[in-house]
Amino acid sequence: AECVHIYSLVHDDLPAMDDDDIRHGLPSTHREYDEATAILAGDALLTLAFDILADPETHERARVRVELVRRLAHAAGAHGMVGGQMIDLASEGRELDIGGITRLQQLKTGALISFCCEAGAVLGRASAEADHALHAYAHDMGLAYQIADDLLDAESDAQTLGKTVGKDAAAGKATFVSIMGVDRARGQARMLADQAIQHLDLFDERADLLRQAAHFVITRRN
Ligand code: IPE
Ligand code: MG
Ligand code: MG
Ligand code: MG
Repeated sequence: AECVHIYSLVHDDLPAMDDDDIRHGLPSTHREYDEATAILAGDALLTLAFDILADPETHERARVRVELVRRLAHAAGAHGMVGGQMIDLASEGRELDIGGITRLQQLKTGALISFCCEAGAVLGRASAEADHALHAYAHDMGLAYQIADDLLDAESDAQTLGKTVGKDAAAGKATFVSIMGVDRARGQARMLADQAIQHLDLFDERADLLRQAAHFVITRRN
């Protein structure tokens, strides 16, 4: 999932997409090298993700590996992250309602976050109940994450954030902030993070890291 995530950012920053010069406080890949390198680096990372999942070292049972491959392919592809990125670009300069923006964000960032939680359940051969709880957690925490991303784009500064700010508004992107305003968006992110944590009630302290993660996504500064 980390490979797919990084590939998506390398491609997201390309001139044909968001045309961003800075990522994590450093020049984005196509600025540091060139566009061809950034495209190929992204392709290589995407391929590497499946190489890792298919490796017997990931799990001894082929069925488990295939299940992971299938779920990551779904989360990353046209019905997941890539689909979300397409809607994101296609909706520049257009109004989306709250349902539209929620769907966009669920695909763009939510699908991959859900995969991360589901992969744990697949590897750990979790019960259906635990799988369901993790799925619900991922859903709410993914949305909270994206609302926080939109808030940071609107409110932070490039020094703190390590990437260009204000670019959603500049590109005319519909975001939770453009639709709800800063205060309601912040309230919504907090509510979703709390709700995400409640979905973990059936787990003991082994889920504390996930609880902390839900808190982290809405309090992070970069
Ligand atoms: C990119 O979304 C998300 C993916 C690459 C899937 P954004 O375009 O909002 O991300 P930032 O703001 O450039 O990090
Ligand atoms: Mg983008
Ligand atoms: Mg971007
Ligand atoms: Mg963003």
